[in-house]
Amino acid sequence: MCGIVGLVGEIVVSDLIEGLEKLEYRGYDSAGVAFLRDSSLCVEKNKGRVASLKEKLSELLNERITLGIAHTRWATHGEPNDINAHPHTDCQSKLCVVHNGIIENFKELKKRLEEVGHRFGSDTDTEVIPHLIEEYYTTDLVEAVRKAVKLLEGSFAIAVIHVDHPDIIVGTRKGSPLILTVGNGVAGIASDVTPLLKYSKDMVFLEDGDIFCVSKGGFEVFDVVGRKKERKPTHIDWTYETAQKSGYKHYMLKEIFEEPSCVAATLSGRIKSAKVHLPEIEELQDLLASSKTLKVVACGTSSYAALSFKYFLENLSDVCVDVEVSSEFRYKRPNFDENTVLVAVSQSGETADTLESVRLAKSKGAKVLAITNVVGSTLMRESDHTLLLNAGPEISVAATKSYVTQLVLLYLLGLKIVELRDQWNERCTKLIDSLLRLPEVLDATLSRTEHIKEVALKYKDFQHFMYIGRGLGYPTALEGALKLKEISYIHATAYPAGELKHGPIALLGPEFPVFAIAPFDALYAKMKNNMIECKARKAKLVVLTSDDCEDVREIADDVLSVNSFSEQLYPVLMAPVIQLFAYYIADALGHDPDKPKNLAKSVTVE
Ligand code: AGP
Ligand code: GLU
Repeated sequence: MCGIVGLVGEIVVSDLIEGLEKLEYRGYDSAGVAFLRDSSLCVEKNKGRVASLKEKLSELLNERITLGIAHTRWATHGEPNDINAHPHTDCQSKLCVVHNGIIENFKELKKRLEEVGHRFGSDTDTEVIPHLIEEYYTTDLVEAVRKAVKLLEGSFAIAVIHVDHPDIIVGTRKGSPLILTVGNGVAGIASDVTPLLKYSKDMVFLEDGDIFCVSKGGFEVFDVVGRKKERKPTHIDWTYETAQKSGYKHYMLKEIFEEPSCVAATLSGRIKSAKVHLPEIEELQDLLASSKTLKVVACGTSSYAALSFKYFLENLSDVCVDVEVSSEFRYKRPNFDENTVLVAVSQSGETADTLESVRLAKSKGAKVLAITNVVGSTLMRESDHTLLLNAGPEISVAATKSYVTQLVLLYLLGLKIVELRDQWNERCTKLIDSLLRLPEVLDATLSRTEHIKEVALKYKDFQHFMYIGRGLGYPTALEGALKLKEISYIHATAYPAGELKHGPIALLGPEFPVFAIAPFDALYAKMKNNMIECKARKAKLVVLTSDDCEDVREIADDVLSVNSFSEQLYPVLMAPVIQLFAYYIADALGHDPDKPKNLAKSVTVE
């Protein structure tokens, strides 16, 4: 999820720090470097800023070295602190590793390694990697990495250095990007191009399964059985600014396009033998199995993910999901007790209203489960249990990938609750299959971006928009309206479609278009009536539907569509569409969706 830099050749220590500074924009919670000095490893790492690291190394910054690796961490296993920061070393401190991603099977690997005498110092999943390589290392570092990686399950980008090999960096990638370059007497490896542009604009984008060995004179790539592979460089003519966003114009767009890989990371290790695997909530199982009501609090986009969770879970089980916005709940007098479970959904884990709601619930004896993206956040620290999105840092103020991964994680929680209440059925098993297919189906949705942009630009000059939906389409309508409001500043309102006739329809007309969330699901016929009502008022109509819906084209002025898929998962598939629709309008109007006026990424004030 975060940042890797490795350099080999004629360098100085500050080149590694500078590489990290070029990754800082990605957001991180800790940082560290390791370099070879007098034939031994010098490792410095700390929680917090790269600047603190630079301060620690102030005496050595100009020292000439030949080899080093560095990392900015976005923690998934083990809170952000000095010990859990990367790099991590083997028992003898002869080799060290930096890692992006998640090692799903780290617990069993750690147990096996401890049984043969390895000693661990951190709580991270990453630390099994250097000890595994140590197990296999004799003289050939590439061979040792190749054997170790075969045992790893999950997603990883890894860079390794060893005191016996002062002129090479070895590593691999699976599900997490790694790029290498060779130029001007220095070779580099990094998780994106920004730290490497200084050395060369010819980048080699490694592929899953590639095991690389890079030196200042060149590089080799092998597959997992040791066969050599050809990898051609690509010339990148990006400015540093463009490169920060991986070539996208804004972080929001980059983060929308990260959604398939983020969903894969959220799902990683959480579905085993066609059932949901959430060890983090083992202690809550009895309560989740028996409680009649589940209380959920959140704000903004997170509250719409929570509302989707309500529709999803109540459709599959007898539990009542009571969702409230934190800013309202926190002033109430809830009659909670120790049998109450409160779920708090917050990407940042720092939203003041949600934190106060958690404190109120805990004061009444409730058990609190946090759904957040930030390890070590206030919400995580004050909750009894936490499920992490593992979506990596979200830089844009506009919540996009965090919303999509909140939906997926909440759906996993919902299915777990259904299982605990002995209400599992064939629909649940089908949902498990569909969840596993989400990354590829999201990719398919994103392949329709050009059409979404074309439609969006037709509506950029309207001053009002009404979003409507029914069932699971309603929270999607709410989020669509919020996205448009907060980044384009166009007035957008959202209603359950059945509510139009109770007043809102009075607003509609040629200047007040409607965005209808209308997949071909059980409520489509009702939605069709509502859409016809809107057309009767001469309102322009954009319909977001599914490919299997045939007659919508007779009604709509413009149609956006996603693959026909599991009805329950349309909110996930439709999320990038409503996000891109808002993004392209905001961009066409000249607004910066990454920093919308009056908004902050984390609302830590009341
Ligand atoms: C920004 O796009 C969101 N719309 C914003 O409402 C956010 O969801 C809200 O502030 C809650 O943030 P949290 O998930 O970090 O608690
Ligand atoms: N899972 C690893 C950790 O928590 C790596 C996290 C990252 O990608 O930064 O340390």
